[in-house]
Amino acid sequence: MSSSSAVQIGRPRLIAVTRWNMRGGTGDIRWASLIAAALGVVISIFLGLWWVTAAVPRFDPHDPALRSGNAAHGRLVFAAGNCAACHATPGQSDPLELGGGLALASPFGTFRVPNISSDATDGIGSWSVADLANALIAGVSPAGQHYYPAFPYSSYTGMRLEDIEDLYAYLKTLPAVSGRPPPHDLPLLFRFRRGLGLWKLLFFEDGRSEARLNGDPVHDRGAYLAETLGHCAECHSARNALGAIKPETRFAGGVDPEGTGFVPNITPNRIGHWSEAEVAAMLRTGETPGHGRVGSSMADVVANFSLLQQSDRDAVARYVKSLPPRPTPHP
Ligand code: HEC
Ligand code: HEC
Repeated sequence: MSSSSAVQIGRPRLIAVTRWNMRGGTGDIRWASLIAAALGVVISIFLGLWWVTAAVPRFDPHDPALRSGNAAHGRLVFAAGNCAACHATPGQSDPLELGGGLALASPFGTFRVPNISSDATDGIGSWSVADLANALIAGVSPAGQHYYPAFPYSSYTGMRLEDIEDLYAYLKTLPAVSGRPPPHDLPLLFRFRRGLGLWKLLFFEDGRSEARLNGDPVHDRGAYLAETLGHCAECHSARNALGAIKPETRFAGGVDPEGTGFVPNITPNRIGHWSEAEVAAMLRTGETPGHGRVGSSMADVVANFSLLQQSDRDAVARYVKSLPPRPTPHP
């Protein structure tokens, strides 16, 4: 402005032109500042998104408070968590060969379950207890990246630290398996793990448990086993377009996460006539009161739950029988 007015004073004959220039000049400045402001907004949105989507580990990887625990108990945690159903190498009979490789189909592409054997390079043999806790509770890898929720940490996030310490000790006793499965087969858009930060903002809160407690120790133990370790709702619920469980369908059944078949409603709407003892017995033998043995992915759950103490199966049965009735969602 000041240089333009200097021009006006010094060269009066150019006034008209200068006026025109002045107008043009302010227009340019206005455009420039608009563009700068827009860029600023874009950059701040980007930085904001970058910031809110960061993968934040819950524990320091060298946290001395986290120690390897009791492997014998860890075996039961491993069974209740059904870890082998996904992580055991397909095509061989040993459920304790955790070389991974199972292909998990989903609406978002195919996930390849990783090697979690004690192999130091291909598995998780070099991990600390805190690394395992960060994976299970925060869904964050040692490299500081988000995991896909195809790994059911949305349920495991409620795990007790002592259980993770025991699980860690048990995993150490299992054989090292070398080799890494191929990478996930996902469309380009879903390959950026950073984007999972948005998913987590919407659907995940680390440490949050969906367990409804009522002070009865049997019921509350069942709540922990069903909601957290056994992650029953991960299969027995319907999911929204972004792959998160629809809360109103929790335990009410839904399309199999792999898209094959329908997982039944296990609220009183469907199994209200089962007694607690019948639910507990099914978890040991697979036998249902009315229609034979359960099959497909439930057979793995039963194989694992049959290893637990009877009191744990009883506890799950009490919790399941206390679920609020919910209508089966339409597939
Ligand atoms: C429904 C299948 C499924 C179950 C059950 C499951 N996982 Fe996984 N797990 C996955 C998938 C898929 C990934 C890969 C996630 C990713 O790449 O973001 C994974 C990743 C992991 C990782 C990270 C490995 C790495 O190399 O970074 C660990 C550790 C792990 N799981 C441990 C467990 C344990 C312990 C259990 C049982 C308590 C368990 N998982 C149960 C599917 C499963
Ligand atoms: C990996 C997925 C998966 C998980 C995890 C899972 N279920 Fe199932 N469940 C199924 C499938 C699939 C069926 C149907 C089996 C069949 O049709 O033979 C089933 C069947 C059942 C049934 C029989 C229902 C009926 O009407 O016949 C009950 C009860 C049950 N599950 C309870 C549980 C409990 C309790 C848990 C948690 C401890 C659990 N499920 C965890 C997949 C799962």
